[in-house]
Amino acid sequence: FDGMTLIDLAKRTGASIVALQDILADLGEKVESEFNSISVDLAELVAMELGVNIRRMHTGEGTVEPRPAVVTVMGHVDHGKTSLLDSLRQTSVAAKEAGGITQHIGAFVVEMTSGASITFLDTPGHAAFSAMRARGAAVTDIVVLVVAADDGVMPQTLEAMSHAKSANVPVVVAINKCDKSGADPERVRIQLGSEGLLLEDMGGDVQVVEISALAKLGLDKLEEALFLQAEMMDLKARIDGPAQAFVVEARVDRGRGPLATAIVKAGTLVSGQHIVVGAEWGRIRSLRDTAGNITEFAKPAMPIEIEGLRGLPMAGDDVVVVDSEERARMLSQGRKKKQEKDRLQKIDEDMTEEAEMAE
Ligand code: GTP
Ligand code: MG
Repeated sequence: FDGMTLIDLAKRTGASIVALQDILADLGEKVESEFNSISVDLAELVAMELGVNIRRMHTGEGTVEPRPAVVTVMGHVDHGKTSLLDSLRQTSVAAKEAGGITQHIGAFVVEMTSGASITFLDTPGHAAFSAMRARGAAVTDIVVLVVAADDGVMPQTLEAMSHAKSANVPVVVAINKCDKSGADPERVRIQLGSEGLLLEDMGGDVQVVEISALAKLGLDKLEEALFLQAEMMDLKARIDGPAQAFVVEARVDRGRGPLATAIVKAGTLVSGQHIVVGAEWGRIRSLRDTAGNITEFAKPAMPIEIEGLRGLPMAGDDVVVVDSEERARMLSQGRKKKQEKDRLQKIDEDMTEEAEMAE
């Protein structure tokens, strides 16, 4: 198609004319009438902003294949999240490939002898988790809820449970520090049960594993439990076509500039592509896997570090692939404008609220 009217676009995307006009305005285009025609480029950008792909070749078809599970570790302060990740990391692909020296890129992959693998998000990052959930696109498939056996259920344990629940993500419980003399895993089970978690040994389907991250006990059982959970979920993703990915972590490296660790949700990300990440844009100068090796592609559930962005994105930002630098810049500009508009509106609302409260 060479172009389409707003009416056509509304039909294809399911969005209202007003919503379309708003997005167009953010992209710097004023379209007065629903009978006016807009270019294909513009229509695609608008559709992309709505999360709809209107290009015929990418309408969700393509090869769907099994993919690894993406697991996030959560739990109360000091209950052993970092220790657990460190222990798991030692059995990870990254550790093997880099000769035990793992780079910190916010995620790593544990490979089992069966050939299956699990991607762990390194950040316990409730912030990233919430941000992604707010976009309706959580990349986490399973939450490992770490509870220290000597301390029991604590406020952040409950917080993690509620995050997982509202995101509809299944939980696998890891009762940690079972090596300690004051450990009471039974008490933890009872506490969790009374908080409404339906544990396996109480007739529910939430798996519980007793571990010691420090003494490296029960880690194989935990991995088994995660694979079992993943298997039941029958995780699949489209592997062809443009990638859809999400940022887990971003930082600036003095020599390499902004670096974003992202996880591909669907499609394949290819080095050299033009991308928009949140409100930032750039061209992928290099992709690195968790071992720090340069790779040309990233497939679903694969964590990668992206180099080549012009600015620093935020955890939870989406990565979209566009066809040209021109489009990348345009979409980024549109999103920045929208962010600014939202920011001002928020200030406005807060001030109104304050004024009302002062009355
Ligand atoms: P925050 O990141 O601060 O929320 O803590 P965390 O959950 O990452 O806990 P971390 O792994 O830092 O562990 C906290 C303390 O508990 C450290 O002193 C660990 O050595 C200790 N610890 C962690 N796991 C175990 C365990 O299995 N057994 C024992 N005995 N100590 C542990
Ligand atoms: Mg920690």
